Amino acid sequence: MKTLIACHSHTGKTLTVAQKLQKEINADFTRIEPVKDRWYVIKAIHAYLEKNWPIKPCTTDISDYDCLIVCCPIWAGRTTPGVIQYLDELINTSGKKFAIVVTMGGDGNQLATIQIQNGLEAKGMEFIDKLVIKGSAQKSGEWETLTQEFAQKII
Ligand SMILES: Cc1cc2nc3c(=O)[nH]c(=O)nc-3n(C[C@H](O)[C@H](O)[C@H](O)COP(=O)(O)O)c2cc1C
Repeated sequence: MKTLIACHSHTGKTLTVAQKLQKEINADFTRIEPVKDRWYVIKAIHAYLEKNWPIKPCTTDISDYDCLIVCCPIWAGRTTPGVIQYLDELINTSGKKFAIVVTMGGDGNQLATIQIQNGLEAKGMEFIDKLVIKGSAQKSGEWETLTQEFAQKII
């Protein structure tokens, strides 16, 4: 399955997970990067309000791919405004499969995967699975095993 990983990462934690996943499944990679950074509180408020932020050019036409994996951190229990924009810009999505990877500092429940799943299913895509890396799994190193196991579901 030809797969594209689209990753937003502000401090590098999600990027580390996404890059390991890329090696495991031999996927292509694109970075979701907001055009400009904002203060922490603005990030959290805009994420909570599900706002869009303009993003730098990246791969949004997925006609060459069978599967898309969206990777992002949790901000205020939600996905990031950059990812919301990315979902809006995606084209040629119908019938493609998708998976979701999120990393978070805490261990609580969060809406981010639901937001992404709803957004991509509305574009005619088919959900495979999601990987939620909690803060505890980042600290213990368990994220590596979780990522390897997740990769097996995608291949
Ligand atoms: C603005 C902001 C809001 C955050 N909100 C949450 C949150 O609601 N729950 C949580 O567990 N972690 C939260 N975090 C922590 C990040 O989700 C976590 O550190 C993540 O692994 C960072 O990924 P990155 O290094 O790829 O940016 C927040 C971080 C930022 C910057």
